[in-house]
Amino acid sequence: MDLFDRINKLKEEGLDQIKQAENQKMLDKIRVELMGRKGELTKILHSMKDITPENRPKVGQEVNQVRDILQKQLDEAKDHFLQAVIAKKLEEEKIDVTLPGREGHLGSKHPINIILDDLESYFIGMGYEVVQGPEIETDHYCFEMMNLPKDHPARDMQATFYIDEEDLLRTQTSGDQARVLEKHDFSKGPLKMVGPGKVYRRDDDDATHSHQFQQMEGLVVDKNVTMSDLKGTLEMIAKHVFGQDRKTRLRPSYFPFTEPSVEMDVSCFNCNGKGCPICKYTGWIEVLGAGMVHPNVLENAGVDSTVYGGFAFGLGLDRFAILKYGISDIRDFYTNDVRFLEQFRKEEN
Ligand code: DAH
Repeated sequence: MDLFDRINKLKEEGLDQIKQAENQKMLDKIRVELMGRKGELTKILHSMKDITPENRPKVGQEVNQVRDILQKQLDEAKDHFLQAVIAKKLEEEKIDVTLPGREGHLGSKHPINIILDDLESYFIGMGYEVVQGPEIETDHYCFEMMNLPKDHPARDMQATFYIDEEDLLRTQTSGDQARVLEKHDFSKGPLKMVGPGKVYRRDDDDATHSHQFQQMEGLVVDKNVTMSDLKGTLEMIAKHVFGQDRKTRLRPSYFPFTEPSVEMDVSCFNCNGKGCPICKYTGWIEVLGAGMVHPNVLENAGVDSTVYGGFAFGLGLDRFAILKYGISDIRDFYTNDVRFLEQFRKEEN
């Protein structure tokens, strides 16, 4: 076969192969075979030395022409496959603008945080400072400084999760009192603080007990603070949270860090004192513990108890929320069920 016929045949076969390629992968293979270094056309160019000198330019020209033609077809085919890929992608990603939109889900404030935020702003309004003590507390602040030495029987009620000999998950926020007392500069004015936060105790987990709950500690220390200041303050809190027409009463109690100690009851908001299941037919509901700060607590923190005195209180935020919203199971606070949580959206402020 004459060389020009061979070149022409290569062209025809090449064009035919390109036409039959079904995808880019096949096309790549054909391109390598036709145009690659081992391809027939290249071989012809490499064997120029065997061609008579007068034929060389013509053969070279012919081969280059065929290469151009094939390259053009290859490019066109490539473009064709690319367009097909893009078209398929566009088709798949088509957005149906007539579909209904997805509703955004708005969360709601946790009922305990509703109570907490409300109380915080109430106390800030009365000139209190809000402090935050550590959840991993030391035996020193949680107990020793609060007049609960190592073998004190009242420690039994607060058996908890110890991390080591000295560190524990705090059983009460009362340690905040000692921390603040140690630092306070009385020449700048009285100490008034609330300390909210989580506390932990070894406890059964049932409808009314949880190994984790939240408290708010309160402390006021100055010269001439009296029990009537305590009584007035507690009454204001009770009325603010449970309603202006609530009555309150103080009962004697015992806490190591206060003397005298009291517990406060509010008249039942459900039956107005007549007696019902919520108040266990007593007409009263216990809401918090309080008392006049024990001199040992002041002295432990380096405060002269012959000059300064004050009152303290500790309330359970879970308990407040349970009472205020009529919640029947404390575990509902900690299981993150939106059906429970979203009921409180209307209470947010
Ligand atoms: N820390 C007490 C408890 O966890 C609550 C308490 C009672 C705090 C009386 C006080 C207080 O500051 O004066 O049971």
